[in-house]
Amino acid sequence: MITHLLSMEDLDAEQIGHILDTAEGFRDIALRPVKKVPTLRGRTVCNLFYEDSTRTRTSFELAAKRLSADTLNFSAKGSSVSKGESLKDTAQTLEAMGVDAIVIRHEQSGAAQTLTRFVQARVLNAGDGWHQHPTQALLDLFTVREHVGRLAGLNVAVVGDVLHSRVARSVVQGFATMGANVTVCGPPTLVPASAPSWGCEVTYDLDGLLARTDVLYLLRVQRERMTEQFFPSSREYARIWGVGRDRLARLPDEAVVLHPGPMNRGVEVTAEVADAPNALITAQVTNGIAVRMSCLYLMLGGEQAAPAEPVTQATTAEEVAAR
Ligand code: NCD
Repeated sequence: MITHLLSMEDLDAEQIGHILDTAEGFRDIALRPVKKVPTLRGRTVCNLFYEDSTRTRTSFELAAKRLSADTLNFSAKGSSVSKGESLKDTAQTLEAMGVDAIVIRHEQSGAAQTLTRFVQARVLNAGDGWHQHPTQALLDLFTVREHVGRLAGLNVAVVGDVLHSRVARSVVQGFATMGANVTVCGPPTLVPASAPSWGCEVTYDLDGLLARTDVLYLLRVQRERMTEQFFPSSREYARIWGVGRDRLARLPDEAVVLHPGPMNRGVEVTAEVADAPNALITAQVTNGIAVRMSCLYLMLGGEQAAPAEPVTQATTAEEVAAR
């Protein structure tokens, strides 16, 4: 069982495989008329978001709800954080209310790790600064395994703004752990010198890489994190590093394209590629819920609980009490 989910570095291939296999069992719940199982009934999951998020926050919330956990959404805006409350005081306040798990997104690398020192609750890192975003990597691995059938031996290219990307660090480690050959590629100003130590190759030749790529993973240009000019203009970036119809055509026929979202259409990816049949971007979002259900289930002791079964409508107070 996993205590905290902080970084892909903490997971070996067996643990990743177990999370993905468990997620498979949860995927079909979304197809049922009642999209809920009672597995985490009585548990409380708090989303503690200090940074903006669309997909990750809603996905964690739906995952917890589909497991019948109570959910608490806490965003820094509109809370006592804006009055200067520290992470420690905020976390201890939440814990005093009895939360069992805290899903945290924070602009500082290491914030999730720090949180584990203040609380007994399980901590899930939903993105800390430039550092890690492990559930994103897990849902990407799940999506590729589902569509391609395997992970080991695949050639994965992670392309774009690698420097500012916690997703890049997480997916490179995740794919490498599962036996894929990973190459990162981007403008030299946006590929950190430490990249080879993540277990990948580095190249600045995107066009040379495409013909031997099975999984093309495009990264968002993270303008909000840029403190200086890393490339001349968006148009120049799109021309040299963006993927449009021409570059898509150079990929092998069976190749798939991923992007964690949100996308800058027209910069790192054209609308045509984003909407192409081999782009798995919507599948990534859908699978995010099952993968996060799997993580919450495995971390909150769900493995010892009864197997997933649908919740049916209770009609009487006695029936409600019996559950
Ligand atoms: C990513 C993030 O926030 O790190 N988005 C996400 O979680 N889906 C990637 C990004 O913002 O570029």
